Amino acid sequence: ALEPDLAGRHVVISAGGTREPLDPVRYLGNRSSGKQGYALARTALARGARVTLIAANAALPDPAGAEVVPVGTAEELRQAVTKAASGADAVVMAAAVADFRPAARSGSKIKKREGQEPEPVRLVRNPDILAALSAARGAPGQLVVGFAAETDDVLANGRAKLARKGCDLLVVNRVGEGLAFGTEENEAVILDARGPETVVPRGPKDELADRVWDAVVARWSGAPPR
Ligand code: C5P
Repeated sequence: ALEPDLAGRHVVISAGGTREPLDPVRYLGNRSSGKQGYALARTALARGARVTLIAANAALPDPAGAEVVPVGTAEELRQAVTKAASGADAVVMAAAVADFRPAARSGSKIKKREGQEPEPVRLVRNPDILAALSAARGAPGQLVVGFAAETDDVLANGRAKLARKGCDLLVVNRVGEGLAFGTEENEAVILDARGPETVVPRGPKDELADRVWDAVVARWSGAPPR
């Protein structure tokens, strides 16, 4: 049996992928299934944590015992995470957040017209929620964890991203070759801004989730991560 080493802790987890509407029926989205974020929620609950799960368009059953807050867009996710993060011990941003959204959202369905070229879609940047949470912590000593999907130079890109975002831990996923998005397995390196990196070999998403909580617990106990 697992030790309840997260007992008394409140953790906030974002999961899934945001959708940015173009009109009432269409959106710009991504292929994130939410499985890794839900695995983080389940394992945290099993280890005794109180869990708030900010779920962006994930078609998955609610983990028993979690407070689930459904969201659609990056802006909704930003508001929900920021609110939940107030007073939380840790925030884990596992959601795939759209970097851009359409500058305008049409109130009615965009129509194709005979003999007319479609209108170009102008995009504007979404705020970087992880960077903002890292810069303004929701509680003293709050731990902020990010995720990053990389295909090449995983470690170098991951280290640079960890520094740029200002979070404490960054879980760098290897994507491609049947890994990560929508699959049951993951392979990652957990980077610690103050410590060594932990290589997590290809395996179930619950396994990676438990290694992430190990790294979080190691930070809280002041010990170097395994
Ligand atoms: O920069 P990149 O998208 O690779 O960073 C991924 C990490 O940043 C994830 O933890 C994701 O949840 C977070 N993110 C965010 N806000 C954005 C884009 C990404 O919080 N606008």
